[in-house]
Amino acid sequence: MLEIADLRVSYAGIQALRGVSLNVEAGETVALIGPNGAGKSSLLNAVSGLVRPAGGSIALNGTDIAGSSPWRVTEAGVLQVPEGRQVFAEMTVLENLQVGQTALHGRDPTYSLADVYRVFPILDERRDQRAGSLSGGQQQMLVIGRALMGGPRLLLLDEPSLGLAPVIIEQVFAALARLKEAGLTILLVEQNAHLALTASDRAYVIEQGVIEKSGASADLARDPDVTALYLGQT
Ligand SMILES: Nc1ncnc2c1ncn2[C@@H]1O[C@H](COP(=O)(O)OP(=O)(O)OP(=O)(O)O)[C@@H](O)[C@H]1O
Ligand SMILES: [Mg+2]
Repeated sequence: MLEIADLRVSYAGIQALRGVSLNVEAGETVALIGPNGAGKSSLLNAVSGLVRPAGGSIALNGTDIAGSSPWRVTEAGVLQVPEGRQVFAEMTVLENLQVGQTALHGRDPTYSLADVYRVFPILDERRDQRAGSLSGGQQQMLVIGRALMGGPRLLLLDEPSLGLAPVIIEQVFAALARLKEAGLTILLVEQNAHLALTASDRAYVIEQGVIEKSGASADLARDPDVTALYLGQT
């Protein structure tokens, strides 16, 4: 579904991605793990059109979308859940979900409002509340729901566990597992390697803009280099 080859991203001389290649097959959950500043968000932002690559290709079902506008990328069914949640704080929960629908660009929805409420019942309970008044975990559920309203074929998730309590992380990842089971394709970016390797089929380890390792998540979770670097605390 997604095939990235030799992707390069630079910001005024800083090379954030130095020739990254990565692929995601339909129905897979693929994790991209790595430390602060490794280039994880840069990769997602290059796919979604928020940053323009300095080189390389990004093919979606065989069509090169590198350098396309975010508008075009969402139209193709690639929806991003941004790092740091970024709800529309002054709007209600329902209004945030309705904004998500604008990414359909006339395509048929893949998730109805009722589907989103089934995935995250708390959003139904809080539908008329200001999004800014929600807890961090509820806001994370809202931004995932907002992306679902945009009809994703490929969902890009940027650190969905960031700053959340363990019990809430469990709820969010249980919902992601159900979405995966129902066939959604997911590219998951996480600093929390243990969590990401548990939740994914395959994973890539990125450091300083270079993919250092890749493989089945279960294998990487047992890889001594990975455990030493990322799983020491678990
Ligand atoms: N808009 C920008 N302007 C300049 N430099 C940037 C910009 N965005 C990212 N960078 C730099 O590019 C590198 C990669 O950043 P990126 O945000 O992609 O990393 P990350 O893996 O997502 O990190 P984190 O885990 O902290 O979110 C870092 O050195 C960062 O400082
Ligand atoms: Mg990031």
